[in-house]
Amino acid sequence: MKERVFSGIQPTGGMHLGNYLGAIKQWVDWQDRYEGIFCVVNAHALTTPQNPSALQEQSLQMATLLLACGIDPKRSKLFMQSQVNEHGALCWLLSCGVSMGDLARMTQFKDKSTKEKSPLAGLFTYPVLMAADILLYQTDCVPVGADQKQHLELTRHIALKFNRDFGECFKVPKPLIGDVGARVMGLDDPSVKMSKSHPGALHALFLLDEPDLIAKKIKKATTDSIGTLCFDPTRPGVYNLLNIYALLSQQESAQVEAQFEGKGYGDFKKALTEVVAETFKPIREAYTRLQAQRGYVASILQEGLEAVQPIAAQTYQHAKTLMGLL
Ligand code: TYM
Repeated sequence: MKERVFSGIQPTGGMHLGNYLGAIKQWVDWQDRYEGIFCVVNAHALTTPQNPSALQEQSLQMATLLLACGIDPKRSKLFMQSQVNEHGALCWLLSCGVSMGDLARMTQFKDKSTKEKSPLAGLFTYPVLMAADILLYQTDCVPVGADQKQHLELTRHIALKFNRDFGECFKVPKPLIGDVGARVMGLDDPSVKMSKSHPGALHALFLLDEPDLIAKKIKKATTDSIGTLCFDPTRPGVYNLLNIYALLSQQESAQVEAQFEGKGYGDFKKALTEVVAETFKPIREAYTRLQAQRGYVASILQEGLEAVQPIAAQTYQHAKTLMGLL
């Protein structure tokens, strides 16, 4: 039997190259190897204030974009987190078994809470909802970017502790984090990871960016004054761009270095622009086609929901019973 993967993406802020290379590309590429369950985690978006109608629209857009990226409903299940009530319900059970100290140690919480004037309690319990997402489906593996590693360690801890305290209930999931691509850095500031919430207009490449904008962002991307093209982690700007190029052109680093030997940043950036634009083009076209078929996207989400709901219900019922709830 195939191992099961589960993963999710928040609907707000679009999908950038970091999301794509760190997670979504793996979801798509591994659809034959694993049984895939993928989720638009719209309830997680509520951890920062949202406009309800915009959230609804962005959630459908993210589902559409995942299909455009190549999530194939014949092989994988795609659904909307808020349509399976057990996510919130299991989150409550699990939050009664995890310490505030463990949650306070989460670096993502520390980062995000310092940016908010009055951080919401949901931001604090965010990793517990993520654990519930994963554990409900008896997941074997979770393909994510490196920034989610700590949340997955907590998920494993929560599962092991629950199984020990109440009896066997959850499969303990393994993270699937790639060697390269797991941490794509910002174009304008390669010292921070590429992120949706970064305010810089030239910070991230979004999958729906038009070619002109892609070219502009790459042209302005931070490099250095050294001028040579080699994979040197002490030169974060060039290193990040070279890694992106290697991943998208499916080449080893030595091949990329050989290709650009004796060439300057201008030539390299032109080649990078081309490969990014070529990667995004079919996705943007598929997205435009699918946007005109909202009924189809809704039917895929409905099918996904019908397939995953019984799994979630069974796990939740078991956990609840083990904890002594009638
Ligand atoms: P989210 O929506 O921030 O990001 C979706 C996926 O993209 C990865 N990612 C990156 N990878 C490489 N470089 C980057 N710069 C970069 N930025 C983001 C993330 O690691 C993630 O895999 N908490 C999750 C969503 C979530 C989830 C889950 C994931 C909720 N429940 C259950 C897996 C399983 C998040 O906010 O991802």
